[in-house]
Amino acid sequence: MLRLGILASGRGSNFQSIIDAIENGRLNAQVALLIVDRPNAFARERARKHGIEDLYLNPQEALSKDAFFQRIRDELTARNIDLVILAGFMRIVRRPLIAAFQNRIMNIHPALLPSFPGLHGQKQAVDYGVRVSGCTVHFVDEGMDTGPIIIQAAVPVSPADTEESLAARILLEEHRIYPEAIRLYSEGRLTVEGRIVRISDYDMPEATLVNPPPGC
Ligand code: GAR
Repeated sequence: MLRLGILASGRGSNFQSIIDAIENGRLNAQVALLIVDRPNAFARERARKHGIEDLYLNPQEALSKDAFFQRIRDELTARNIDLVILAGFMRIVRRPLIAAFQNRIMNIHPALLPSFPGLHGQKQAVDYGVRVSGCTVHFVDEGMDTGPIIIQAAVPVSPADTEESLAARILLEEHRIYPEAIRLYSEGRLTVEGRIVRISDYDMPEATLVNPPPGC
């Protein structure tokens, strides 16, 4: 069975959506370890409630950023982790971890990449005035939110939206597509060719025309 290692920094609601998908049989996988980089991350409570090992690693104690990610790599490989899941992990992953888990690290970002990478993707979308935003699950490379895209979900943006109201609606879609992307991986259906991810036997979700222009 696919062994997942989760990296998180905070609340962990995406982590919870993965636990739920496993527990109700939608995802055939096992969470073997949660690593957090903040001692008070609420994700730890979720891990304990579900009998999942959790580990706090203090970035300040590492000699360098690379050394911090070497330590993470060592903890993951010691537990035979197959796939690493970034679930609200607020750091740019460095080479030691990426090299050890090539195309085996996923991230979720709260915008339609390549728009609005980095912090506060939802606020960036509201401030820019886009009509559609959403979320993206992608494989992680050394850039910031630049790796090959696996699946995305679109969320309409209203002029009345605030960062908080948009974030809440995007989060619902995050909780749907992250377990789905992991399921596709667990079924061996993802192939990475350059920056294109091919999904075998995948029915694309029906396109939805949001806020059609007048006369359309
Ligand atoms: C989520 O909205 C996730 O997309 C975002 O942080 C939140 C974590 O929430 N990640 C990023 O912005 C990464 N660039 P959670 O801890 O409840 O899953």
